Amino acid sequence: MRSHYCGKVTEEFLEQEVTLCGWVNRRRDHGGVIFIDLRDREGLVQVVFDPDRAEIFEMAERIRNEYVLQVKGRVRLRDESAFNPKLATGKIEVLGLDLTVLNASETPPFQLDDTDVHEDLRLRYRYIDMRRDEMQKRMRLRSDVTAYLRFFLDKRDFWDIETPMLTKATPEGARDYLVPSRTHQGSFFALPQSPQLFKQLLMMSGMDRYYQIVRCFRDEDLRADRQPEFTQLDIETSFMYEEDVMQLNEDMMRGLFKDILDVDLPNPFPRMTHADAMLRYGSDKPDLRIPMELVDLADVMKDVEFKVFSGPANDPHGRIVVLKVPGGSKLSRKEIDGYTDFVGRYGAKGLAWIKVNDVAEGREGLQSPIVKFLPDEAITAIIEKTDTQSGDILFFGAGEANMVNESMGSLRVKLGEDMDMIEDVWAPLWVVDFPMFERNREGQWTSLHHPFTAPSIDDPAELEKDPGAALSRAYDMVLNGTELGGGSVRIHNAAMQASVLKILGISDEEAEEKFGFLLTALKYGCPPHAGLAFGLDRLIMLMSGATSIRDVMAFPKTQTAACPLTSAPAPVSNEHLKELNLRLRKVEKKEDEAEKP
Ligand code: AMO
Ligand code: AMP
Repeated sequence: MRSHYCGKVTEEFLEQEVTLCGWVNRRRDHGGVIFIDLRDREGLVQVVFDPDRAEIFEMAERIRNEYVLQVKGRVRLRDESAFNPKLATGKIEVLGLDLTVLNASETPPFQLDDTDVHEDLRLRYRYIDMRRDEMQKRMRLRSDVTAYLRFFLDKRDFWDIETPMLTKATPEGARDYLVPSRTHQGSFFALPQSPQLFKQLLMMSGMDRYYQIVRCFRDEDLRADRQPEFTQLDIETSFMYEEDVMQLNEDMMRGLFKDILDVDLPNPFPRMTHADAMLRYGSDKPDLRIPMELVDLADVMKDVEFKVFSGPANDPHGRIVVLKVPGGSKLSRKEIDGYTDFVGRYGAKGLAWIKVNDVAEGREGLQSPIVKFLPDEAITAIIEKTDTQSGDILFFGAGEANMVNESMGSLRVKLGEDMDMIEDVWAPLWVVDFPMFERNREGQWTSLHHPFTAPSIDDPAELEKDPGAALSRAYDMVLNGTELGGGSVRIHNAAMQASVLKILGISDEEAEEKFGFLLTALKYGCPPHAGLAFGLDRLIMLMSGATSIRDVMAFPKTQTAACPLTSAPAPVSNEHLKELNLRLRKVEKKEDEAEKP
């Protein structure tokens, strides 16, 4: 039907005849001539219809936006005054010699170039929204990235193997999406939160090296970088430990960024322990592009009279930190109140601050609601520890350690954004040496990764003695403050796996019922193995500069995990339910949960 893509017709085809197919981006009537910008995946080209060919001209007059056309025409140079340097086709136009309307279009619900369209409307008419150049570029990038990743892994002898979607629960920390079984009434499949158990079984099956670009399903609170179904690049290898796995994946990322974006990522990626990341950034995925760090003040505040600070300084579960914001003393009272509300959303009871107007003047040079509570030695120590200069502001967070980390870590990122401090670099990072377990609110040990992650201690009895002391052999790859991927060396020993499940408070019966198949498989010659998984959507989001993974998925769900295009999820008929032997309970009204900042 066509000889060329619209966006590819350049001056190299002057005086040649071309046949183009595409959508009407815009039609303009200009003193007896009609201009149509015809658009396809590759770009736009200007087509001109003049009244000499009366029949075609009449047809062209009736054409509206988003009509689908086939145009035969001759490529000619535009007047120099009409050159459009923004278009690859900007020096030429196509004189229309023949025109077929392949399809008409109703007036679209929004203009493609309107930047102020509500996302719900865009998603309801996603097939129109995706005609936008920006979306086409993102989808192309996505395809180029997966092609590169497959190429890279294929070259290194990884096999692409599919794993089931109708399966049993995989414990990755979210709720499962369940699918009722008709043939086993009262029983349910779970959609996989990840292929974790299957990829380990593949190693036990002697497949040696596996990868898969695979859909995962997690029913959890949604955010800009979380969707209920998303895609992982999932990788597992036998006979490799953490160094080899990290090396391989770094090489892959470096190669990818070079190939696709012509960006040189650092070699090697920096590494940071989990403890260090929490201490300095209050986060296990620090954004290293922001040149500010939290400074711990426990030693300085232990003996001050101000209980808000001395309390947490003396509490093993407490924390008191300061964040120095260079040039921040220009912040207004209103802005500071705004940041106080911001940390309040994470549970902070306040946000103490000191504006340093003149550091040479000591106490006199400070402006703050709290300096009156602090002795001179403490003030001197704070200023020295943070290397504060005149014109800076100091923000303090005190309280329960997790809350302080979360609130002050997020404040650091927010201030970095608001004050334009984010450096224009790519900042990858490995976070390593995670604790193996952490206690939840009920005091029960839980896994920081998943229960199949190997601890740094080899002896199960030793591990059970002091679970809190164990680190795991896990590694997370962080890019610009986003957790891009994570993985670990796995437990390949049945006794160790039993110990870990026991520490997690999973009884033998429950373990048998949930992952008996894995525990059995561990007894039949399981090789040492390790792997990781990347969030592919997050990777594409970062590479394309999008701010949400919804923008790099063709048909994403909304914040409330619904699809405005298909209206999924939807009720099903009574017959359907009967077939499954299911009856619905009365629907309880529930408030929508708000998105975290
Ligand atoms: P994990 O749970 O860390 O590890 O997931 C791996 C990566 O997947 C991405 N991700 C998500 N992306 C979008 N929406 C979500 N809801 C979502 N949840 C996770 C993140 C994350 O780093 N089986 C292990 C991997 C392993 O140990 O090999 C796993 O799934 O980028
Ligand atoms: P108060 O004594 O409660 O009036 O607090 C004095 C100052 O300390 C105010 O600026 C509060 O915002 C701040 N503040 C109170 N609680 C905390 C906290 N947990 N962390 C940091 N600052 C706090």
